[in-house]
Amino acid sequence: MTRTLPGRGADAARGVDAGRGLDAARGVDAGRFREALAVHAAGVVVITAQNDGVPVGLTATSFSSVSLAPPLVSFYVDRSSTTWPSLRGAGHFAVNVLASDQSDVAARFARKGVDRFAEPTRWRPGPLGAPLLLDVSAHLICLPYDTSDVGDHVLVVGLVAEAAVHGASRPLLYHQGRFGRFLAHPS
Ligand SMILES: Cc1cc2nc3c(=O)[nH]c(=O)nc-3n(C[C@H](O)[C@H](O)[C@H](O)COP(=O)(O)O)c2cc1C
Repeated sequence: MTRTLPGRGADAARGVDAGRGLDAARGVDAGRFREALAVHAAGVVVITAQNDGVPVGLTATSFSSVSLAPPLVSFYVDRSSTTWPSLRGAGHFAVNVLASDQSDVAARFARKGVDRFAEPTRWRPGPLGAPLLLDVSAHLICLPYDTSDVGDHVLVVGLVAEAAVHGASRPLLYHQGRFGRFLAHPS
């Protein structure tokens, strides 16, 4: 028997597995959901922008590639983020892909009540103005392409205008609430 994914709306709320007795509308236990997500290791980026001359930025693990042609990337930002209004108002943003020795940078850009761009953060203004963090593995400069509300987050899609890779440093990863490094299998 062919099964199709439900569309948005009432069918989606019932969920694809409604026939198997799961109640997707009630949702999974919140603690179990967080536990399952924590098992998924993710790379860490800092999204930066400049709004009215003020640099803003936040740490994100929700970064993802979206499309090669056109070159699109995305991240999700919490709708309650105090950084989001400034990011949304900026003409472009930068994705700074952190290197394995930059867990302190990741922690600082997730901390409230601090000047995230003050010492010891090392950065320079990018070609269009958005701050570029130094010592990162790579950075992408993006123009706003699309946004949409998804649950309690906003999906932000950017059109990549410039991409630069800086050296061959290893990635910073986040897993089960801790920062760590990637260890390749022997080839
Ligand atoms: C490892 C890590 C990953 C994070 N990923 C995201 C993310 O993808 N989206 C998001 O909105 N917040 C994410 N956060 C939280 C934000 O960095 C942080 O809570 C936010 O910047 C709070 O400050 P704000 O209100 O000034 O934005 C992450 C935090 C950490 C430590």
